[in-house]
This record gives sequence, C-alpha cells and structure tokens, in this order.
Amino acid sequence: MRVRKAVLPAAGFGTRFLPATKAIPKEMMPLVDRPIIQYAVEEASASGIDQIIIVIATGRSAIEDHFDSNASLERWLEDRGDIEMLRTIRRISEFGTVAFVHQREQLGLGHAVLMAKDLVGDEPFAVLLSDDVMLNPNGAPVTRQLIDAHRAHRGSVIAVQRVEPEEVSRYGIVEPLHEEGRLVEIRDLVEKPAVGEAPSDLAVLGRYVLTPKIFDVLEQTPSGAGGEIQLTDAIRELTHEQPVFGYQFEGVRHDAGTRIGWLKANVAVGLDSEVADEFRAYIRGLDLRD
Ligand code: UTP
Repeated sequence: MRVRKAVLPAAGFGTRFLPATKAIPKEMMPLVDRPIIQYAVEEASASGIDQIIIVIATGRSAIEDHFDSNASLERWLEDRGDIEMLRTIRRISEFGTVAFVHQREQLGLGHAVLMAKDLVGDEPFAVLLSDDVMLNPNGAPVTRQLIDAHRAHRGSVIAVQRVEPEEVSRYGIVEPLHEEGRLVEIRDLVEKPAVGEAPSDLAVLGRYVLTPKIFDVLEQTPSGAGGEIQLTDAIRELTHEQPVFGYQFEGVRHDAGTRIGWLKANVAVGLDSEVADEFRAYIRGLDLRD
C-alpha cells in the first residue's frame, strides 16, 4: 500500500531551547527564512506524501496559523506588487491536506503519535520529527529513501545512522540481526545505553515508516523513561511481532532541537540558500583563532 500520510509530532515543550521556546514551539524557530517544521513538510511532500497530520500542544496555535492562509498579508503583498513573495506565502497553505490534532498533555512522543491514530487509519504511514533536520540536497529526501525501503521489504523502516561510540548514550541504539548494504534487520532496540554497553553504534534518528500495528502496541505501552510513553519502547515491542528494519540513509542530519545543532543547521541551509555567496564570504572573513 502506498505511503500517503505523514505524522509530524510538534507538541513537545522544547526545554533544551528555553527561553526561545517559552511562547513558541521549537518547530517554529526559523532556519534562515522558514520555520523548522516547514522543511519537514516540504520533505514529506517531495517524498510523495499528500496528507500531513501535525500534532500540536493545546493552546499553541503558531504552527496552525503558519500553514493557514493569511488573506490580509496576501492582499498587502498583491497591492505592493510583490508577486514573488505572494507566491511563496501562498505555497505554504497549498501543501496538500494539512490536518492538526491536539495533544492535551505532554505524555511523550509515543503518545503524540497515538493522537493521530484515527486520521491515519489502517495503513502504513511516515513519522517525521522536524527538529531532526535531514538535508540531502543532491539526492532523494530521507523520507523518500525510507518509503522505498518499506516498499521493497515491507515491515516498518526507521532511519539510522552511525554515531561516535561516546555518543550512544544520547540515542536509541539498534541491536542488529542482519545487515545488508544500507538495510539492517533489527532484533531489538536499547534506549540510551551506557557507553561500552551498546549493542552497536547505529542510532535511531527522527524519520520512520511504520505499519498501523504500532497503534495497537502504543495503546498497550506503559509510561517509560521520564514518565512518558516512548515511541522507542513501542517499536521495540513491534520488533517481536513484525519485521522492523533500520535504513542507513544518505544525507546529513542536524539536531535543531539543541542550540549547537540549530546553529549548524542554519549554516548548512544558509550555504545552500539565496544568500549563500554573501554568507560564504562572511564566514571566510571571520577570524576564527582562539
Ligand atoms: P523531544 O524528545 O525533543 O522533546 O521530542 P521536547 O519536549 O520537544 O524537547 P526537549 O527535550 O524538552 O528539549 C521529540 C519530538 O516529539 C515531540 C516533540 O515536539 C519533538 O518533535 N513530542 C514530544 C510531542 O509531540 N509530544 C510530547 O509529549 C513529547
């Protein structure tokens, strides 16, 4: 079955980015000139997804407003003859269907995904954590790569990437059953293992294609670390019922939910933007000695 729908959880508190995230979700922080979440919506759309479901925290409307049309702004741009910006603004509200579901309490990523159950229904779907910014300017979007792997192998497919041995304790880590090229059949997952105790150096990152079975599993998943319903715990359970694969995707990932990751993502996007030449010249001119 074609993967038509994507769930974008965006209801977290974003505590690692306070105070910037006190009044706006971290997904609305800009990378150069677009909010982080728009990159993920564009990635999903370029991957063949035509129904986007964004999970937002109750009472936070900035993301909903961003993807809605803004008639007075459009009229103002039209009156000024700024047709290029008018097109850019209109395109944002024309990404196929964008639906919103509310997560009333921040009970974790697994719980956020579960909020989309009725809108997804009984079909495989993608999950994109937009604060994991995935850039692959010269190749297929990362979500497209996972969808292709899902088509070829069935089962659920999650994005994985090798990390430095001392970094394993920051991620969900894969215990591989079998590796072939970029594909890894997963035997089990370990959430944030201690350095030296990880079953591999393959970390789970924020892109997934999941079968709808995950919803049944999530409904049975008790709260785990931090009192939250963890998506990793549910995927772990899923590995015992259905094949789950890791896909070592092509592309660069920046964790834009942290200060340093957000800065790096801005540099990467800036060097591939309209202001790239000026930005490159500026960076070259910096005195970077200590
Ligand atoms: P994070 O683990 O980054 O948590 O969530 P967070 O709350 O957003 O940020 P920190 O750790 O406090 O800085 C991973 C993804 O899951 C979403 C977040 O919006 C992010 O996209 N999420 C997390 C929810 O939608 N709901 C939750 O209850 C928790």
